[in-house]
Amino acid sequence: MADHTDGAWAKKIRALADQRDAVILAHNYQVPEIQDVAHHVGDSLALSRIAASAKQSTIVFCGVHFMAETAKILSYDKTVLIPDERAGCSLADAITADQLRDWKAQHPGAVVVSYVNTTAAVKAETDICCTSSNAVDVVASIPIDKEILFCPDQFLGAHVQRLTQRENMHIWMGECHVHAGINGAELKELVGTEPDAELFIHPECGCATSAMYLASSGVVPAERTKILSTSGMIDAAQKTTARKVLVATETGMLHQLRKANALTIFQPINPAAICKYMKMITPEKLEHTLMHGNDVVDVPQDIADQARLSVERMIAIGTPSRTGE
Ligand code: 13P
Ligand code: SF4
Repeated sequence: MADHTDGAWAKKIRALADQRDAVILAHNYQVPEIQDVAHHVGDSLALSRIAASAKQSTIVFCGVHFMAETAKILSYDKTVLIPDERAGCSLADAITADQLRDWKAQHPGAVVVSYVNTTAAVKAETDICCTSSNAVDVVASIPIDKEILFCPDQFLGAHVQRLTQRENMHIWMGECHVHAGINGAELKELVGTEPDAELFIHPECGCATSAMYLASSGVVPAERTKILSTSGMIDAAQKTTARKVLVATETGMLHQLRKANALTIFQPINPAAICKYMKMITPEKLEHTLMHGNDVVDVPQDIADQARLSVERMIAIGTPSRTGE
């Protein structure tokens, strides 16, 4: 089997990308070999921004399908490729465009805020998309008298509601199976054995609510409990002086955290929090994509046109998050 960690493979991949005039984007949850060979690594917001301004004619998206669709919506004239089009997302599957249309009909005049983890058809029914790193800013930008429909993630929704104190916000009860599997009981147990550790928690986690409760009740010091998007975690990793950080998100994140700070120990709260969809993108499939130009990501023109405004509003809000290059 080929060694994907040696420089020769990386050189070959970059040469294939040049031949195809392609930029390789990788999400923070990709396997380390892919993160290390990509031109840019980041969270969904940062990668959307890069996709929107890419100079190359082809974008190779190493992430899940909704992320590649978002790149296509933003750069419709470019070819967007994903190494395996079957790389889905259980959160994006939590709401369909028909379900959203029904929900809107029950709340006429409400502003629809959809997490970027949604299909293009759902985005086409959305007023403004958000990611975990700008969800609070997006909701805060909506006039206070407007009702909000927030979908599809219940834990991110609860986090945003807590921070904005927004009462007229309805939240869809969807969840990501990976993040929902990181629960409050595990968190409480680990915090008990590691009283000095900091906590980095993705707002999609089932334990996010529990972490806020533990912080407000003094079980863990509030200043050591941080609810962060994936790129927010990297920024915090660079700054921390803690000996240990307990991390609640998909385990692919640990690669960038450990690169960002070699002095701190980053320990997953649940080592089994692995997204099988993210891991469908392998180094072999990336190489195959660059050689043969598949799988092509297509979004019907009318859906892309309807979805574009909600995605463009999303990338205009919030401070640009960092990416590894
Ligand atoms: P980020 O927006 O933090 O990159 O998260 C995306 C995601 O799919 C989380 O599971
Ligand atoms: Fe979707 Fe969850 Fe995987 Fe993120 S970790 S891509 S939300 S299934």
